[in-house]
Amino acid sequence: MKFGIISGSNRKNSQSFKVADYIQNLAKQQSTESYLLDLSKVNIKYWDEGFWVDSKTFDLEWTKASTELHSCDGIIIVAPEWNGMLPPALVNIMHLAVKGEFANKPVLIVSVSSGINGAYPVVHLHQSGKNSFANFIPHHVIVRDVNHVLNDYSTVANEIDQSIRERLNHALQVLNVYSEAFKQIRSSDVIKNVPYAYGM
Ligand SMILES: Cc1cc2nc3c(=O)[nH]c(=O)nc-3n(C[C@H](O)[C@H](O)[C@H](O)COP(=O)(O)O)c2cc1C
Repeated sequence: MKFGIISGSNRKNSQSFKVADYIQNLAKQQSTESYLLDLSKVNIKYWDEGFWVDSKTFDLEWTKASTELHSCDGIIIVAPEWNGMLPPALVNIMHLAVKGEFANKPVLIVSVSSGINGAYPVVHLHQSGKNSFANFIPHHVIVRDVNHVLNDYSTVANEIDQSIRERLNHALQVLNVYSEAFKQIRSSDVIKNVPYAYGM
């Protein structure tokens, strides 16, 4: 079992990376292998028509990330709320990951806000997945007031911090169960031979 974790902020020292790193530790604790793509540490080219010419040679950094994501059974997208939307770097990933990286895999959304918001990235992602064939599971977690939670893996700051940790722990367990079940879905001939590459 392997999870792909995408930290959707391209800001250095982002809170999203802090959350993604916490999740990677949690996955390890649950004996799940993981690959973490931190959008602040890569410089993945923005989509242009070169992607249609040859998606494999479009951008070396994306090819590397794409290969890793293909090998994952479940995906976790850590999505910060920026101007009530997703960061452009994360929207770019949704445009590039249309070659099977997320296809017929369960995807857990973990949204991040420094305030009391965080709902918009969940909505935005649900509207972004059609051509990736991502299956967003209903167990998304919203991490509000992110600066004050998940700051130390082993020390819990307060009740809210504890509650977020419990939710993430459960969400990862759920993702594990879904990921196992989706292996069977991906092995189906109906799924392998979809005649509608861009959905219906
Ligand atoms: C360009 C920009 C716009 C933002 N807009 C919002 C917003 O609309 N709602 C919100 O809750 N937080 C907003 N924030 C604050 C983020 O929630 C905060 O930076 C948080 O740490 C997650 O982003 P990060 O992963 O880049 O650190 C914004 C941050 C940036 C950089």
